Amino acid sequence: MRTLDEKKIVVASHNAGKLAEIADLIAPFGFEAKSAAEYGLPEPEETGTTFEENAYIKAHSAAIATGLPALSDDSGLMVDALGGDPGVYTANWAELADGTRDFKIAMERTNLLMGKKGATAPSQRAGRFVSVICVAWPDGHAEYFRGEVEGTLVWPPRGDRGFGYDPMFQPQGHERTFGEMEAAEKHGWTPGQENALSHRARAFQLFARDMLGAA
Ligand code: IMP
Repeated sequence: MRTLDEKKIVVASHNAGKLAEIADLIAPFGFEAKSAAEYGLPEPEETGTTFEENAYIKAHSAAIATGLPALSDDSGLMVDALGGDPGVYTANWAELADGTRDFKIAMERTNLLMGKKGATAPSQRAGRFVSVICVAWPDGHAEYFRGEVEGTLVWPPRGDRGFGYDPMFQPQGHERTFGEMEAAEKHGWTPGQENALSHRARAFQLFARDMLGAA
C-alpha cells in the first residue's frame, strides 16, 4: 500500500456536511486538509455505477488539478426494500428542477417508495449507509477504504443535526437517529479506540490505520 509522504491532502468534496465530518476525523492526525473549493476546482460529473468508481473520479481529478494526493468520499444509502436504491444516486434523489437539493423531499420520496413496497413495519425497513474513501495520486494510483453501518429507516424523520438522510436513519443498537446525535456520537470514534459508528468514520478508521499509522 502506498502511504502519504507529506501531511498535506486535498479533500475532493463540495458537500459541506461531508467536508465538516472529514475535517473532524482527520484533525487529530495533524493534517493540512484543503478542500476542492479552496483550490477553485470544479465538481466532476459522477458517471460511475459503483461508490468506488465515483470516489476515484472525484479524487483523481482533484489530484491531477493540484499535483497533490487527494481524498474523496463517495457515499449513499442502500434500502433493502428498494433493492439497494438509492445507492450511488442518493444525492440525485434530492435534486429539484432548478438544480438545488432538498433532502426533506428525498427522505419523503424514499419513505413513499418504501410504503408502496409494503415496507411499513420496522423489521421491513432495514438499510445501510455506505462510504468509500478513495485516496488518489496524480499518477493514477489509488487506495480504497469502505465503511458500512446497518440501521432502520424511521418515519417521521427525527432530529435536525448532521446532513442528508441523517434524520431518518437509526443505526442498529441505538435509540436515536443520526439526526439526533452530536457529530462525535455519530462518528463514535477517536483514534486509538475500536468502535467507529458511522459509515464514514468506519471507512476513515481503516484509512487512518493503514495510511496514517493509527492504532
Ligand atoms: P455523493 O457521495 O456526493 O454522491 O453523495 C452522497 C449522498 O448520500 C449525500 O448527498 C447524502 O445525501 C447521502 N449521505 C452520505 N453520507 C451521509 C451521512 O452520513 N448522513 C446522511 N446522508 C448521507
